[in-house]
Amino acid sequence: MPTIQEHMYNSRIAGLGFYVPENVVTNDDLSKLMDTSDEWIQERTGIKERRHIIKGEETTSSMGVKAAKMAISNAGLTPDDIDFIVFATLSPDYYFPGPGVMVQRDLEMKTVGAVDIRNQCSGFVYGISLADQYIKTGMYENVLVIGSELHSTGLDMTTRGRDVSVIFGDGAGSVVLRREENLEKGILSSHLHSEGQHAEELSVIAPAMGTRWVTDILEANDPDDTSYFPYMNGKFVFKNAVVRFSEVIREGLEKNNLGVEDIDMLIPHQANLRIAQFIQKKFKLSDDQVYNNIMYYGNTTAASIPIALTEAWQKGKIKDGDLVILAAFGSGFTWGSVVIRW
Ligand code: COA
Repeated sequence: MPTIQEHMYNSRIAGLGFYVPENVVTNDDLSKLMDTSDEWIQERTGIKERRHIIKGEETTSSMGVKAAKMAISNAGLTPDDIDFIVFATLSPDYYFPGPGVMVQRDLEMKTVGAVDIRNQCSGFVYGISLADQYIKTGMYENVLVIGSELHSTGLDMTTRGRDVSVIFGDGAGSVVLRREENLEKGILSSHLHSEGQHAEELSVIAPAMGTRWVTDILEANDPDDTSYFPYMNGKFVFKNAVVRFSEVIREGLEKNNLGVEDIDMLIPHQANLRIAQFIQKKFKLSDDQVYNNIMYYGNTTAASIPIALTEAWQKGKIKDGDLVILAAFGSGFTWGSVVIRW
């Protein structure tokens, strides 16, 4: 594989943004719908609250558009400057077309290309990797990458679905990647993996539908048919996640001749606070070297990394020259990492 020095260009994160719905749903709110408790949820996942849309007010694409607007404006650009759109989600508004084209439409952009990524929790990492390749080859200058997720309308909010439903939240995050000729800074490398053998361990099996209509379809559905709801083999996912997170972070460091001691900021996909804490302990990282916000947003799947990255950056926790690592694991199974010199 070519190294960074063999490219003429590098991609840098030029702007970041995120959007979460205003509606806060606490663990106590969920306890009114299903047999669960604040204590159980916090102990197992670290989650205190999450955001859910008010039905009809937002869609996956509308949240993505809001995050994208912020990222584009933070980059000092206008939608006209964007050359390509990458949209990662497992919860598209429609079964097809995917939400990438809705961003082109709603931001009144030129007829630039738009691609949709279906890699669930690792979707944003895959998206950054894809955008990075277009930039490094010189094909595009400014690429918009979005991760957005509308989970709340498709979850089983009864006791039957409690092991899955308490974890997930709605939201969106976005970055603009910009082509630069400074090869010292920007995306140093990305590392992607899959293992389809475990495809069914975290999945929605039934025919897919758009999240705009999902609740209506469920109402018309056989109430005992759970195949329309996400299924998760929680313990198996947890065990695989901790192994793959560690492997793919190490792979990224080794590729760049770096060590764990070089990490300034690790942004893990916000799957479960206990997974992030396990990794932090394993790599002997301090609280300042890992950013978590799952306590307030739950697991927002493809949106979790760009939301966390934007927040960490807004709080001044990421500085020029820092080594930042993004790492994700999820349904597929798929996993990946991105190594960035900020
Ligand atoms: N509230 C209260 N009790 C619950 C519950 C809830 N929301 N969900 C499950 N339970 C119960 C179970 O029914 C079970 O009861 P039992 O012992 O009487 O059978 C008990 O709690 C333990 O359930 P279990 O599923 O074994 O718990 P766990 O320790 O594996 O924790 C997860 C469940 C989902 C929190 C955990 O497995 C996990 O986080 N896995 C990884 C998930 C993840 O990261 N997914 C995203 C990947 S990208």
